[in-house]
Amino acid sequence: MYNLLKGKRGIIFGALDEHSIAWKTAERVKEEGGEFVLTNAPIAMRMGQIKELAEKTGAEIVPADATNMEDLENLVTQAMEILGGKLDFVLHSIGMSVNVRKGMHYTESNYDWTHKGWDVSALSFHKTMQVLYKKDAMNEWGSIVALTYMAAQRVFPDYNDMADNKAYLESIARSFGYFFGRDKKVRVNTISQSPTPTTAGQGVKGFDGFIAYADKMSPLGNATAMDCANYTISLFSDLTKRVTLQNLFNDGGFSNMGVSDAVMEPFLKQEE
Ligand SMILES: NC(=O)c1ccc[n+]([C@@H]2O[C@H](COP(=O)([O-])OP(=O)(O)OC[C@H]3O[C@@H](n4cnc5c(N)ncnc54)[C@H](O)[C@@H]3O)[C@@H](O)[C@H]2O)c1
Repeated sequence: MYNLLKGKRGIIFGALDEHSIAWKTAERVKEEGGEFVLTNAPIAMRMGQIKELAEKTGAEIVPADATNMEDLENLVTQAMEILGGKLDFVLHSIGMSVNVRKGMHYTESNYDWTHKGWDVSALSFHKTMQVLYKKDAMNEWGSIVALTYMAAQRVFPDYNDMADNKAYLESIARSFGYFFGRDKKVRVNTISQSPTPTTAGQGVKGFDGFIAYADKMSPLGNATAMDCANYTISLFSDLTKRVTLQNLFNDGGFSNMGVSDAVMEPFLKQEE
């Protein structure tokens, strides 16, 4: 390990179980010398294994529904108290669509569900940053990262309204990132990650086909949750101080591919 985050403090949202991208990130942050508070929605605390991660990493847990401003205010205040000062990094690793969960087709969207999913998956990022900004909770050259998916730019039919939520999330990173950069010298970026077998990922219809296709299309294969954790560490570190307002692809090259030999193969056989 490289001690890249020695002396840095932060908040990690979204570790549900050992498959979660946030879980792997917390383990890597710890290895790199960072200290953090873990948070998740109160309901996820009951279902998840977050206590195990907290014990393993010596972190405290502060529950917060990321759609609730009071919860977020309490979280940020408590995190600064527990960690003994302002924060250097924040990971937003949160996603949920009620339409996806309930198998509602995109063309039939239930708008109450759309609204809920948007609040959880996208607006919560704005809310989190608003609280951090108003409380002046970030140190200069701090770094805020949210996780996203390429369905924000291209069509993946089964990704449903999460595609729209991710487009909104990425836009918030740029819009809020401007003010955070100008006023507080804080970076704000999104990492656009390969399909990854987690609870949220596997909720998408046809996920197995989806992940296999992406793997065959990508020259380096799909990025794992650990790859995402490592990329996030680099963005939290001082090595990427002037990287901001970016949507950064961590996808084995998928996003710039048209077609690969492996994906072409079955079609060539048909021609013979
Ligand atoms: N798994 C993939 O294929 C993939 C690909 C690209 C991007 N992402 C993104 O990565 C992030 C992390 O997801 P993951 O794949 O690790 O799955 P995950 O299911 O392990 O994590 C999602 C987390 O969101 C939390 N959450 C839901 N509602 C919340 C609320 N109201 N308040 C606070 N937290 C809430 C859940 O409790 C859970 O911990 C998400 O933004 C997801 O969209 C995932």
